[in-house]
Amino acid sequence: MTTTTDARAPRQLGGAVAKLEAILAARDIDPAAAVDAAPPEPVTALELAAARIPRRYRDALADHAHVSAWVEEIAAAGRPGPGGAPGIAYGPSLLIAGPTGTGKTFQAYGAIRSLLGAGVRLRWEAITTAELHATLRPRQGHDGERHFQELARSPLLLLDDLGAAKASEWTEELTYRLIDHRYVHELPTLITTNLPIADLRTAVGDRVVSRLAEMTRRVILDGPDRRRGTVTGPRGY
Ligand SMILES: Nc1ncnc2c1ncn2[C@@H]1O[C@H](COP(=O)(O)OP(=O)(O)OP(=O)(O)O)[C@@H](O)[C@H]1O
Ligand SMILES: [Mg+2]
Repeated sequence: MTTTTDARAPRQLGGAVAKLEAILAARDIDPAAAVDAAPPEPVTALELAAARIPRRYRDALADHAHVSAWVEEIAAAGRPGPGGAPGIAYGPSLLIAGPTGTGKTFQAYGAIRSLLGAGVRLRWEAITTAELHATLRPRQGHDGERHFQELARSPLLLLDDLGAAKASEWTEELTYRLIDHRYVHELPTLITTNLPIADLRTAVGDRVVSRLAEMTRRVILDGPDRRRGTVTGPRGY
């Protein structure tokens, strides 16, 4: 008789549920929470990085052919790390030069995003030259040297706007130490500048420019200032 079975099934199920609830309660597990909690979505390296990328460049793409070629070169040079994914290795740096607003910082963040998107596990740091000078200026209660070492040793470093900040003997020495560390250890570094090479030499000194000449691939961006839309006439660069 189906009626007997129908009448008994809910009681059996009810008993099982009560037992399960008792077990969960004994283990201090809230059954409602356990049911509601969806398995967490895996967070990709790219998503994690997005939080550290300035909002304006969060969707940046390395769509310049020479920038994407550098990304491929660096990704290919990576050796597998403990988890099997390639880590960043030693390799050439990239100097992205060009007038204001041509997309240098955009390409640089695009390169970092491409490396992360390609599954390269990397620790990276990004800083503008003006921030570098401001944050490392000696002051009480701040270990500037430790911060310097973090930047100098980072497997990938973006140094944005080289030569753009006001220079002094102290800033020249700082820039030299940073670039020299990256140079001798062959650590991939993304450098942007809106100075032509001759002016860069005046701004940061010949020792820095000489090292950059050997350690970097070059990309020159030209075209209009993207912030202003199309401009006509020469830009004097
Ligand atoms: N390839 C691109 N596609 C779409 N937008 C872009 C591209 N390149 C740059 N932009 C946008 O153009 C603006 C200027 O770019 P960016 O800040 O990278 O210029 P820059 O060369 O670094 O300028 P500066 O020398 O003043 O630092 C930004 O709003 C950026 O998002
Ligand atoms: Mg820029």
